Amino acid sequence: MRIFWSLLKNSNPKIEYYSRFSPSPLSIKQFLDFGRDNACEKTSFMFLRKELPVRLANTMREVNLLPDKLLSQPSVKLVQKWYMQSFVELLDYENRKPEDPHTLNDFLELLIEIRNRHNDVVPTMAQGVIEYKEKFGFDPFISSNIQYFLDRFYTNRISFRMLINQHTLLFGNDTNPAHPKHIGSIDPNCNVAEVVNDAYDTAKMLCEKYYSAAPELKIEEFNMKAPKRPIQVVYVPSHLFHMLFELFKNSMRATVELHENSKEGLPPVKTKVTLGKEDLSIKTVFSTICTPLPRRRPLLAPAGFGYGLPISRLYETCDFNCGFCHKR
Ligand SMILES: Nc1ncnc2c1ncn2[C@@H]1O[C@H](COP(=O)(O)OP(=O)(O)O)[C@@H](O)[C@H]1O
Ligand SMILES: [Mg+2]
Repeated sequence: MRIFWSLLKNSNPKIEYYSRFSPSPLSIKQFLDFGRDNACEKTSFMFLRKELPVRLANTMREVNLLPDKLLSQPSVKLVQKWYMQSFVELLDYENRKPEDPHTLNDFLELLIEIRNRHNDVVPTMAQGVIEYKEKFGFDPFISSNIQYFLDRFYTNRISFRMLINQHTLLFGNDTNPAHPKHIGSIDPNCNVAEVVNDAYDTAKMLCEKYYSAAPELKIEEFNMKAPKRPIQVVYVPSHLFHMLFELFKNSMRATVELHENSKEGLPPVKTKVTLGKEDLSIKTVFSTICTPLPRRRPLLAPAGFGYGLPISRLYETCDFNCGFCHKR
């Protein structure tokens, strides 16, 4: 711990320095163009060795503005430690020469380490907020500020990971041979119904495990652009999967709990995928009752923290403006 705090002290001017730059917003199109045209690892390295510290520094500065009582919760401290450690490790590359045979490989490995280190940021931060609320109670003003902070914090995390994933997928060995046409994590022809089915199947497995039953899926497609053709969009399938998985978990839970004792059995979960001129919309209809479910027990893990829907909304707003989210 002592080493960590001395690092923190010594790199404070660096946080100052990097947080003065604004993150560069990148669109999906820019990701695609870069990934398609013989993507150059050296160029990506030169960009990321500055862009990633800039994003981390900006985020850490925002974290530091949180109320002291929240900052002092062990889980929040842990998250801060992860950010700091990743920031310091990235600074190692400030002056390293990309021509050095080890630089690019070492950098790629570091990115994978950073991605793994930050895997649990969302539940850990949520835990920190719970610890804080348990100790100090609920103040609506502070809570809405924390909510605002968390939205930005999680959105920044999504785009930060997107940058890391593009680099490691384009230049590392973890390229997915099953999807040779993907550009990093982006599928230029993402078949929406396939992702809907995948997310449904995964949620169904969980649901059957917890309730020994699961509703069927009824999926309908309306392609206004190319009628009768499967709906395809340029998208990050893992993001779409994440959102749909959360929706299916919720709707399955609602369906099972509301119809547990009904003679007719479980009604299906209905999903309607519509591609209009501008927008893709996916609607999931679960049942006719829309009162929130009583909080009985945490079911269909990971559920019960109440961040399934909020995080899904962030994925939705973040995509196609995958920089620091300037929209809000
Ligand atoms: N399809 C649904 N039907 C009824 N209630 C729902 C549905 N989806 C979500 N809810 C309510 O909204 C709450 C928040 O959902 P969510 O953000 O996914 O968090 P979690 O599932 O972790 O509780 C749920 O706990 C539930 O009470
Ligand atoms: Mg949920």
